[in-house]
Amino acid sequence: MERTIHGWTGNTRVADKTVYVLNGPNLNLLGTREPHIYGHDTLDDIAARLVARGAQLGLGIDLRQSNHEGHLVDWLHEAHFEGAHAVLLNAGAYTHTSIALHDAIKAISVPVIEVHLSDPETREPFRHISYVGMAAIQCVKGLGPDSYVVALEAAAKL
Ligand code: DQA
Repeated sequence: MERTIHGWTGNTRVADKTVYVLNGPNLNLLGTREPHIYGHDTLDDIAARLVARGAQLGLGIDLRQSNHEGHLVDWLHEAHFEGAHAVLLNAGAYTHTSIALHDAIKAISVPVIEVHLSDPETREPFRHISYVGMAAIQCVKGLGPDSYVVALEAAAKL
């Protein structure tokens, strides 16, 4: 696994297919952020798990995090133009607000799987709407860091 400017990559030199794993605001603070909701694993831990599982599934991993909505839109476009196999998207709070992310997912042909550590539908009412979910092909949520691994396994079957 290699550190990049925005996150981590792994297996990309050996695997034919790459899965983009895009993470939105505040997910850089995983590990210390509300651990009773999100657990103690850091994004670094999650990246390591995905790279290891990706190696078994023949998938490269390009995991990134940004607190800025436009970066996520740009990376969805990039995944499309680079011919990514799939995108796993945990858009954090932008899930519940961003028509720009909804439109970006609709605009690209790469399949996008929505991911959440928690289950937003069992939390505050403002988390019950998901603009990402209205455009994504599938959602994996509520499993803590395992949500990412289960989503990667679903991506492998696409
Ligand atoms: C989250 C759920 C969102 O409601 C919240 O804003 C997050 C994290 C999750 O992974 O459970 O930032 O996407």
